[in-house]
Amino acid sequence: MARLRVGVLASGRGSNLAALIKATSDPAYPAEIALVIVNIAGTQALARAEAAGIPTRLIEHRTFATRAAFDAALDSTLREAGVEFVCLAGFMRLLTSWFVRQWEGRLLNIHPALLPAFKGLDTHSRALASGATEHGATVHFVVPEMDSGPIIAQAAVPVRAGDTEAALAARVLEVEHRIYPEALRSVAEGRVQIAEGRCLIDGQAVVIDRR
Ligand code: GRF
Repeated sequence: MARLRVGVLASGRGSNLAALIKATSDPAYPAEIALVIVNIAGTQALARAEAAGIPTRLIEHRTFATRAAFDAALDSTLREAGVEFVCLAGFMRLLTSWFVRQWEGRLLNIHPALLPAFKGLDTHSRALASGATEHGATVHFVVPEMDSGPIIAQAAVPVRAGDTEAALAARVLEVEHRIYPEALRSVAEGRVQIAEGRCLIDGQAVVIDRR
């Protein structure tokens, strides 16, 4: 069976990209990474993709006059590479509604919190400060509103006594690396439907993974 051709957009460390590279390196995995686009030169994400022999493109947002022009370049580059589905993996740019609509239903993001809690940045420190007893990560389809959209996977981790932001972030990152490849697999296997703003996987509602 043909594997789903995925484009990954990243801006930084690229550890979620690495998790996707690892998953897709198994020929039995139903998706392959056709292209990695980074928007900042010299990032670890770029180095990781190059080391894995994956085609890469550097499209620097700062060289574009407008957000629309940058997003148009992203869109055409993805299409030229035959990309069918896009994963945001630590991509630190807000995408225009136009771009999101081009890829609607074919665009995933990973966020380091149990959405709808803690949208935006600094999720770990805010979770700690809130007194929450659990925290986690979410993979969701992207809609124009930031950190919203149908949730395809969520995993929770406990907040432990004496946790620091770094300790909590590391615990969350571990589950991120598990749920992103799992979510992409379920999409690539055609097991995901979106109905009324919610994902159904094999016809079932998504449940929080507390393994
Ligand atoms: C991750 O915490 C991800 O959830 C968020 O940005 C971070 C990216 O980390 N969207 P990395 O670049 O994948 O290591």
